[in-house]
Amino acid sequence: MSGVNEIRSTFLEYFAKNGHEVVASSPLVPRNDPTLMFTNAGMVQFKNVFTGAEKRPYSRAATAQKCVRAGGKHNDLDNVGYTARHHTFFEMLGNFSFGDYFKERAIELAWNLITKEFDLPKDKLLVTVYHDDDEAAGLWKKIAGFSDSKIIRIPTSDNFWQMGDTGPCGPCSEIFIDQGEALWGGPPGSPEEDGDRFLEFWNLVFMQYEQLEPGKRIGLPKPSIDTGMGLERIAAILQGVHSNYDTDLFRALIEAVAHATGVAPEGERKASHRVIADHLRASSFLVADGVLPSNEGRGYVLRRIMRRAMRHAQLLGARDPLMFRLVPTLVREMGQAYPELVRAEALITETLKLEETRFRKTLERGLAILDEETRSLTKGQNLSGETAFTLYDTYGFPLDLTQDALKPRGIGVDTEGFNAAMERQREKARAAWSGSGEAATETVWFAVKERVGATEFLGYDTETAEGLVLALLKDGQEVKGLEAGETGLVILNQTPFYGESGGQVGDTGIMQGEGARVRVTGTEKKLGDLFVHHVLVEHGTLKLGQSLELIVDHERRSAVRANHSATHLLHEALRQVLGDHVAQKGSLVAPERLRFDFSHPKPLGEEELAEVEAIANRVLLQNEPVVTKLMGVEEAIESGARALFGEKYGDEVRVVSMGRADGNRPFSVELCGGTHVNRTGDIGFVTIVSEGAVAAGVRRIEAMTGDTARRHLEGESRRLKEIAGLLKTPVDEATDRLAALLEDKRKLERELAEARRKLAMGGGAGASEPVRDVGGIKLMARAVSGIEMKDLKSLADEGKKRIGSGVVAIVGVAEDGKAGIVVGVTDDLTGRVDAVSLVRAGAEKLGGKGGGGRRDMAQAGGPDGAQAEAALAAVEAALSTAA
Ligand code: ALA
Repeated sequence: MSGVNEIRSTFLEYFAKNGHEVVASSPLVPRNDPTLMFTNAGMVQFKNVFTGAEKRPYSRAATAQKCVRAGGKHNDLDNVGYTARHHTFFEMLGNFSFGDYFKERAIELAWNLITKEFDLPKDKLLVTVYHDDDEAAGLWKKIAGFSDSKIIRIPTSDNFWQMGDTGPCGPCSEIFIDQGEALWGGPPGSPEEDGDRFLEFWNLVFMQYEQLEPGKRIGLPKPSIDTGMGLERIAAILQGVHSNYDTDLFRALIEAVAHATGVAPEGERKASHRVIADHLRASSFLVADGVLPSNEGRGYVLRRIMRRAMRHAQLLGARDPLMFRLVPTLVREMGQAYPELVRAEALITETLKLEETRFRKTLERGLAILDEETRSLTKGQNLSGETAFTLYDTYGFPLDLTQDALKPRGIGVDTEGFNAAMERQREKARAAWSGSGEAATETVWFAVKERVGATEFLGYDTETAEGLVLALLKDGQEVKGLEAGETGLVILNQTPFYGESGGQVGDTGIMQGEGARVRVTGTEKKLGDLFVHHVLVEHGTLKLGQSLELIVDHERRSAVRANHSATHLLHEALRQVLGDHVAQKGSLVAPERLRFDFSHPKPLGEEELAEVEAIANRVLLQNEPVVTKLMGVEEAIESGARALFGEKYGDEVRVVSMGRADGNRPFSVELCGGTHVNRTGDIGFVTIVSEGAVAAGVRRIEAMTGDTARRHLEGESRRLKEIAGLLKTPVDEATDRLAALLEDKRKLERELAEARRKLAMGGGAGASEPVRDVGGIKLMARAVSGIEMKDLKSLADEGKKRIGSGVVAIVGVAEDGKAGIVVGVTDDLTGRVDAVSLVRAGAEKLGGKGGGGRRDMAQAGGPDGAQAEAALAAVEAALSTAA
């Protein structure tokens, strides 16, 4: 037994045998602690169990926990590669008691494991205890039979363990092994303690307190145990090597580096091999846990780690990107213990490749500048901060990369000068910004952003997290607190709430902590990456600096996810059905529905819509996972991802692919920062509910998904059944039945109109014509109702035919009381009589003005149908004057 994988299982099995629940490693990005950058110890996932805030069904646990110590309180980045045992990423083996056993059992369990299972020589072991911890010293004496000289009392913080500035803590006892005189070094507490001879490999923490803030400590509800054994260290001990980098796992990684570069693992470039092996682990595990390289927060720490390794790859003479080629070896060595590594293998490979390809473009030039600028410098001197800043700003060299590059020559960097140069650049950005249009109304955001920095968005991976309140605003002013009943804006260090962008609405939900409960009514983004939460304090007081539990409204977000993914499917389906000219012109992704605007010259036919819907649903039912990758904008667009023309993208973009098309290509690939379903099947179903025009050449469709779509269609189906019920026919015959009814209706209307017309003209043939003589001209004048206005003219024509020679005047009164008037003059009389002036005389009585037409036929109208007879009288009067 001595391989790393076997040591890990032996540890876990041993504690399982002793009544411990074996719990999986938690992710490297802590979900339950806003103050921590990365999970840095096994106890992090149990933080709230120690304090009593969280209950679990077990009171003893054991884990192999992934940890990263880079950035934040425990930061080992500087030393990695140059010492035998510093790492950015490492595994911590731990056993935990949550108010179950305490010091005695903890010491017993530890002693038995190392002396019986691991078979370490008792006489080489020694321990430290916190200086006043007589109890622990006594227990070591009793259990291990140690003499006083093997129990070293340490009065410093080395033997008081704290997770971070806040959180559970307590005195601790560390177990050391003496690796023999051949190595330099002295026992803990001695001036030579930093040497390699005495190696600490297991820390037992007697958890007793919780640090609330600096200087404020309270007792835990029950004394507990937290231990941490560095897996890499115990492996080195058990394998009889003096460096963690000589253990089997690291040898495999280093051999892969040697194989890929042709540079021997030992010798001058030893540190580079080690840096690459260590940083490969940190980078890969961080990517697998959802961190991607960026210029802020966790993403920037990842980028620093990656680039530091990439410079070392360059030192080993690698001409092409190297890191991604090592991923298979890492997955082979660690994939079984950490399946997330296997799942994320493709993403890790691509992320490493992209980062290295991009960084290589400026790396050599940057190194040349660094060489030139430091040629005249000697040991103990500093590179100017200005140059370090140029390397950072223009060549992408994180400060620690520059420091690392100069370290072997004993040259430092003027970090104050670096910070000053950074500050000058911020000033410039601020000046440029305050000249822009938005400045006047929103200056407050610039001040806030400068103070608190970008908000880290956690919402791609989680819908709940904790966050620290960094700024509060009320009525546009910064405030220290918000009281119950007040509304305001909250800025946190990190958030799972999506800020409205790219058409996707912002998240809503709840924030709570320390007696305060706050409703989040919306979230937006300011200045690109400052997430602003709109809130209403429901009860308690919201205070600056407070830590809050953040809970996104899951159902609403799920509906939004489904609608966003459906938008991508519809976009591609539209393009396939209508053609390549279809380009996105706008979109809205809300929980209830999605709206998508696109270029297309004419309305979509029913068949086109049905086909778009069918294609989208077919791809949906493939139920393939939705894959998100981070890429450079250019690469993304070259790879065929659809981007919005004119949209501003950062250097890196998220590329979302879904579905499967011919040739195993994804069905849809888009640049998108939104949140999506895990698999397309999660959309449930998509249905287009409307289609229309927005502007010339731009159409809009609206669609629904999942349960909303189901309810919508259920409503439609219910209405269809009601219709069929009224028609007294089965649903599938309703259309024919309705068509027949409409045809009947049209026929009846025609017949009715005909009958009315006949009636209006004085009944059937032979009825006496109401014609009188006006100065020798025949006048047929009548008022009718129930005849449509458009039919008045044909009535007048018919009248003209009947009288042969004369004038016909007809006033038609509509149901609403308005009237139309038509006057016809037979051709033989148009020299003497003008229909237009007659119709005007009549229209005046009807309260209308004007009237138009020709001398033989004119029409007009007016509001006052009650004056129909008066109007006809006026026509007659006018005719008598003309005649
Ligand atoms: N939490 C303790 C440590 O990290 C065990 O050392």
